Amino acid sequence: MRVLFVASECVPVAKTGGLADVVGALPKALRAMGVDARVLMPGYPGVMARAGTAEEVWRSGDLFSRRGVLRRADVAGLDLLALDCPEFFDREGLYVTEAGEDWPDNPFRFAALSRAAAEIARDGLADGWRPDIVHAHDWQTGLVALYLDAWGVDGVATLLTIHNISYQGVFEAGLRRDLGMPESGFTAEGYEFYGRVNFLKAGLVHSDLVTTVSPTYARELESPEFGWGLEGVLAARPERAIGILNGIDTAAWDPANDPAVPTFTSRTMSGRNSARADLLRRFSIDAGRPGPLFGVVSRLTDQKGLDLLLGVLPDMLRAGGSLVVLGSGDRRLEQAFRTAGSDHAGSVGVRIGYDEDLAHLIYAGSDAIMVPSRFEPCGLTQMYAMRYGALPVVARTGGLADTVIDANAAALSAGVATGFQFEPGSREALSNAIAKVFAVYSERGLWRKMQRNAMKHPVGWEGPAERYVDLYARLMAAETGKRGFSGTR
Ligand code: ADP
Ligand code: GLC
Repeated sequence: MRVLFVASECVPVAKTGGLADVVGALPKALRAMGVDARVLMPGYPGVMARAGTAEEVWRSGDLFSRRGVLRRADVAGLDLLALDCPEFFDREGLYVTEAGEDWPDNPFRFAALSRAAAEIARDGLADGWRPDIVHAHDWQTGLVALYLDAWGVDGVATLLTIHNISYQGVFEAGLRRDLGMPESGFTAEGYEFYGRVNFLKAGLVHSDLVTTVSPTYARELESPEFGWGLEGVLAARPERAIGILNGIDTAAWDPANDPAVPTFTSRTMSGRNSARADLLRRFSIDAGRPGPLFGVVSRLTDQKGLDLLLGVLPDMLRAGGSLVVLGSGDRRLEQAFRTAGSDHAGSVGVRIGYDEDLAHLIYAGSDAIMVPSRFEPCGLTQMYAMRYGALPVVARTGGLADTVIDANAAALSAGVATGFQFEPGSREALSNAIAKVFAVYSERGLWRKMQRNAMKHPVGWEGPAERYVDLYARLMAAETGKRGFSGTR
């Protein structure tokens, strides 16, 4: 089974969010199962630093008046193919300028990535390697399946995973000719979207199978509230989006073996106490505060619902709680959190920015991690939190609903609760959930029990990777069927 992953980010070389964690971990899990999985991604500076001198395995045709070469390198257990095309990718911001504006040539940059993937799927690499399946991720790779269809390539199947349908890659209609998108597809059934072109829609229309990152989000996507205008497109497909829950990389995120934190296990938690003390020091929080320490590690966007948290903050602090926040994004939210930090110095600590090691320390040292998202396709932070014994407080939506066992009466009496859930978008519901966190926190035995449950909850990639392998097998069988059983390629 040869699978070409195509994505715009990948841990450990380029990350803005959970997409990178998934693309850095799932192919590794697949390789351990014998799948020949390779990852094609843009040659950003961080990627070229690792792959810049690696073997050249392919040269592109015309990539929108640019040329690219692929360099193949073994990076952190991944078989990485870096698209070396400095005019498009030699920039620090993956998607945006330093001022936070989208790069104006984003449609070309990601069409180039998609086009390179489609050419490889058609012609193979220099050594003859050609994928059976192209597994694309999010809007940046939506055009792969469109190009393959437009060029009439067969012998390769396409799978698109939606990580977040609210980002679609919508651009002005006139670009379709420059991007080599067939005119016949500029219709409501094709890639046209309210008079513009939509990369994700192209992917949904042309891919053989579509998956998304949790079962609950797969159903939510079909409603106007969560479908962001594409719910009808999903409904028109022969098969609905299949929900497969993400896992996390349990080797990179292991409290018993993590260079960024004092280590601990569910039996010996003293390292966790050191991590908490460390965290309080780093954020100048008064160690005498009696209540739980809440943590946030998040992109600061509307999606994440953190404005609700600001709304309940005074109550949380009055009750003796404290809060540490690490995040960046929306300038307004950044400012609001900075202000909260200075208004409540000693009980609220805020770092605006991106810091991988500090993120690990927050999961390891906080008592609870807040994820009050309005929608959340899967969410990884609640899983990192559980693995590190920080109880997640999550909105009951998408993957948050599928990964956290709420401390309701039934779960508590069965002894299986791993966190706290509340109705999304409601400040009152969040406030009630926080009150419950305080109540459980004051019963040390119960809190410890929930921590142990959370730390033992299965969050690895083994199960999900098997489900992807089943889908790949199904796609390959269908592709063989199309070609008849003599099936030469
Ligand atoms: P999303 O992909 O929507 O941002 P996820 O929960 O799937 O949400 O993944 C977020 C990932 O990004 C996690 O690995 C989280 O630890 C990380 N992350 C988010 N913000 C920061 C930050 N400011 N610094 C370090 N890591 C961050
Ligand atoms: C997206 C989603 C997040 C998900 C991640 C990885 O960024 O917002 O919920 O966990 O992709 O699939």
